[in-house]
Amino acid sequence: MQNININNISEMLSKDERILLIELAKNKTTNFTTLENNLKWEYAKISRNVLWLENKQIVKIFTKKTESYVLTKRGEEVITKGLPERRLFDYLLKNKNISLKSVGDIGLNEAECNIAIGILKKYNIINIENNMGAILIKLKSSDDSRIKAIEKLINLIKDNIKIDENKVKEVKEVLNRLVEKKIIDDKEIVMTDIGKKVYQIIKSENIDTIEIITSEILKNNSWKYKKFRKYDIKAPVPPMQLGRYHPLVNVMNMVMDAFIAMGFEEMEGPWVETAFWDMDSMFIPQDHPARDVQDTFYLNKYGKLPNAELVKKVKEIQENGYDTGSVGYQNKWDEETAKELLLRTHSTPSTFKSLYKGVNNPTKMFSIGRVFRNENLDKTHLAEFHQIEGFVLADDLNLRNLMGYLKEFYSLLGIKNIKFKPTYNPYTEPSMEVLYYHTHFKKWVEIANSGIFRPEALRPYNINANVLGWGLALERLAMIIYDIKDIREILGHECKIDFIQNYHYPKL
Ligand code: PHE
Repeated sequence: MQNININNISEMLSKDERILLIELAKNKTTNFTTLENNLKWEYAKISRNVLWLENKQIVKIFTKKTESYVLTKRGEEVITKGLPERRLFDYLLKNKNISLKSVGDIGLNEAECNIAIGILKKYNIINIENNMGAILIKLKSSDDSRIKAIEKLINLIKDNIKIDENKVKEVKEVLNRLVEKKIIDDKEIVMTDIGKKVYQIIKSENIDTIEIITSEILKNNSWKYKKFRKYDIKAPVPPMQLGRYHPLVNVMNMVMDAFIAMGFEEMEGPWVETAFWDMDSMFIPQDHPARDVQDTFYLNKYGKLPNAELVKKVKEIQENGYDTGSVGYQNKWDEETAKELLLRTHSTPSTFKSLYKGVNNPTKMFSIGRVFRNENLDKTHLAEFHQIEGFVLADDLNLRNLMGYLKEFYSLLGIKNIKFKPTYNPYTEPSMEVLYYHTHFKKWVEIANSGIFRPEALRPYNINANVLGWGLALERLAMIIYDIKDIREILGHECKIDFIQNYHYPKL
């Protein structure tokens, strides 16, 4: 059983809650409509305060289905224009009579004329006389009490006030087209025992408690003579959309933590690169299909090449293998093609720029960054996505080490069911894909590409050690971690805002 402190509750009531509670105490039960009428508050204000009282266990709300009268379209019209019989009656009161022909002149249409005449006749207010073929309507009595009764009923219905069923029945024919019955959800508010006790405390108190401390009340000392409203620290608050990590940023942080735990340093690179750094620098031939505009976004601009010595080595390696023992691609290598600016298609340029700048032996580096490919979008492909790049430089590294690093990395993220498959890259040999068994797609999906860099790729940077490298797909990782079935839901114009705002952080 909860230990309820009545004093505490009463001290937490706001001024409006007090006003509402005092109003509720006047009746055994009450509904929203009655409160709207008695307090002259808007519905939203009532409903807010009722809910607050309900949260404090002061009231209980019961929803009842009740039948109630509402105005029809015609009824609404009557509210603004007046009842036809009222309009005819008012005219006759001033003018005593009117010819049937000219009833329309007072603004009634044919149907309204018929109604007005019919009703006034029934109420014995008018006489209809035939004056040598001209029909004349004459006022007989100036007693409009029956019209007034109808007007009163319509106004009550308009204001949602419950009306006596019998009263409606009495004037059924008149009201027929003006009102109709509707089932409405009526909320009944009942004070609880706690509510009754709280009421006993607050009924004699000043309802005007201090709710907010302002400079005003401090200056004029009024705080000394009033009670402060207590904070209700358990009061439910409306859900707020606070800032939080985008799921991808969250995965980025997890990846960063994992690589840092494995002793890697971070590297960075720009989104716009020359073709030289995106491709040539790592022994991708100039006629490689990935260079095609179908795969690569070119900017139609040219950038600068790095120092001439490096460019010369790259050129020779591509054309004839230079001193690597390889024969290269046996194709003319074109400097202009290497200068083309593009949106990087992978983040491997960061690795090669690091090698160019010079690194120690051994070195372990990683980066997380955006890459761009001119691809058709589908469940597992985006044209803009993120790659997790990494390389390890040391003596005597082999394929086992590469597999070890990747296995270790994925297992730090809780991903165990991976396997390796040989593949081809122009710049690594051997090369391996990492596959993950996706239980939703029920197939092995590629989540990484990796390999040991070839001598032709490393020679321009005078590196004699072994270099392992990989590019992992960040979004594919996010799909696994958050169990996302369509990659477009997390990045791009089709992303699901609801998911981004409300996803649960994974527990690993
Ligand atoms: N750059 C490759 C890709 O985009 C990944 C990779 C990096 C492969 C380094 C081998 C070595 O798929």
